[in-house]
Amino acid sequence: MRTSCFDTPERYGRVSRVLHGAMALLLTVQLLGALLHVFARGVSLERLLWSNHGSLGFLLLLLAVLRGTWGLVNIGRRPLHTGVLGRLAGVSHLLMHALMILVPFLAVLRAYGRGRGFSPFGMPLFEASGQEIPALITPASTFHGLLAWVLLALIVGHVAAAVYHRVVLKDGVFSRMWGRAY
Ligand code: HEM
Ligand code: HEM
Repeated sequence: MRTSCFDTPERYGRVSRVLHGAMALLLTVQLLGALLHVFARGVSLERLLWSNHGSLGFLLLLLAVLRGTWGLVNIGRRPLHTGVLGRLAGVSHLLMHALMILVPFLAVLRAYGRGRGFSPFGMPLFEASGQEIPALITPASTFHGLLAWVLLALIVGHVAAAVYHRVVLKDGVFSRMWGRAY
C-alpha cells in the first residue's frame, strides 16, 4: 500500500512519519546528552552533546511546532484511539506534544531573560541585552529539567507500548507509524 503525504484513519502519512522519526532520533540524542550530563559529566561524548544542548533543543522546538501544526491540519483523518487504553494512548500523545513544545520554549525564554544573547547553531536569535528578567528565568529554572525528565518517562512508556503492539499483540498499531501496513 502506498503511503500518502496526509494521514488517513488507517495509518499516518509520510510527513507525520518523517517528523516522528526525525524527532525520535534527535530527542534520543538530546536526552542522552542530559543523562550523561548528570551521570558521566566530563566524558568526551557528554562535552560534545552538552555544548550543543541549546542549539539542538532550539531545532527540536521548531520541529515540534511544525509537527503540532501538521497534526492539527490532519486532526480529522488520523487513526482513531478507541477504548480505555486507546484513549490513554491518545492523552499521552497529546501530553508528549505539549512537553515537546513547553520544555524547549521555557529554556529559550530563560536564555532571553538572562540577557546574554542566544545563537543556536551560530545564528544570532537575540543579541545580549545585559539585562536580567527574573520572571523569564524562574519558570525554566524550576520546570525545564523536571518536565524534560517527565517527557523521557513518557517516551520510555510509549516505546514499550509500541513494541508490545508489534511483538505480542501483532495488531497493526505499530505499522500505522513505522514500516509497511500488514
Ligand atoms: C526538547 C528540548 C530539550 C530537552 C529534552 C532538554 C532536556 C534537558 C534536561 C533533561 C535537563 C536537566 C539536566 C540536569 O538535570 O542536569 C536540561 C537542562 C538544561 N537545559 Fe535543556 N532541554 C531541551 C532544550 C533546551 C534549550 C532550547 C535550551 C537553551 C535555550 C536548554 C538549556 C538548558 C540548560 C541551560 C540546562 C541546565 C539548567 C537546568 O537544569 O534548567 N535546553 N535540559
Ligand atoms: C523508536 C521509538 C518509537 C517508536 C517505535 C514509536 C512508535 C509509535 C507508533 C507505533 C505510533 C502510532 C501509535 C498509534 O497510532 O496509536 C506512534 C505515535 C506517536 N509517537 Fe511514537 N514512537 C517512538 C518514539 C517516539 C518519541 C521519541 C516521541 C516523542 C515524544 C513519540 C511521540 C509520538 C506521538 C506524539 C505519536 C502520535 C502521532 C503524532 O502526533 O505524531 N514517539 N509512535
